[in-house]
Amino acid sequence: MTDTEERIVSTETPGGYIFEQFRVERGCLGYLVADAETRFAAIIDPEEEMAEAMMDEVFRRNLRPKYIIDTHTHADHISAARDLKLKTCAKVVMHEKAPASIVDIKVVDGDRLRLGSLEIKFRYAPGHAKDLVAVVLPGKILTADALIIGSCGRTDLLNGNATQQYFTLGCVFGTMPDDLEVWPGHDYKGRTHSTLGDEKKNNPKMRFASEDEFVEYMDLENPKKLSDVCQLAESLKANMV
Ligand SMILES: [Fe+2]
Repeated sequence: MTDTEERIVSTETPGGYIFEQFRVERGCLGYLVADAETRFAAIIDPEEEMAEAMMDEVFRRNLRPKYIIDTHTHADHISAARDLKLKTCAKVVMHEKAPASIVDIKVVDGDRLRLGSLEIKFRYAPGHAKDLVAVVLPGKILTADALIIGSCGRTDLLNGNATQQYFTLGCVFGTMPDDLEVWPGHDYKGRTHSTLGDEKKNNPKMRFASEDEFVEYMDLENPKKLSDVCQLAESLKANMV
């Protein structure tokens, strides 16, 4: 097994779709999803260091990329969406509030796209970023940084908002079925996925009693524990063009 293969989690589900998770060392997670019959595929959150491994899988599995989905304007890494769009001719999909000029299809809450018989649904989940969409697949939700295992993404970056994040956790994810698998946009401990039931029960960010307490916690946590916003500005600028 090569280094790259060790960082890929692959499943071909009983529902008949191909699903792969890609990881780079600092914990960014990206996904490749495809309809097993038509081979139409979506590349989701391609970080630039994982793009080559993703394309290797596209060729190895004889897939036909139709969409490149960036769940939000990433602040901590550079998206490979622009590069992969040139290589594959797939259409770039983001939320309607995303500023990037490369976007071909702008989606809002509840929009759906199809890969053959596989339906992809988008849920608007702002807070970490105002243009964040979670991606719903049969039995799974790709929550990006709106919900990571045991926590949620920071809300102090450009376009972040702790109040919106509170409602995303409670009203968007909090009302979805417990058995839905959670596949996040980052993980720093080598975990691949969780379930919404586990997150509702064990994730402290989903268990605040009130909006005020959550917002106060996020405001205190960010400057004390997280890296300076200025360090992230270069990625943000590159992904907004
Ligand atoms: Fe993010």
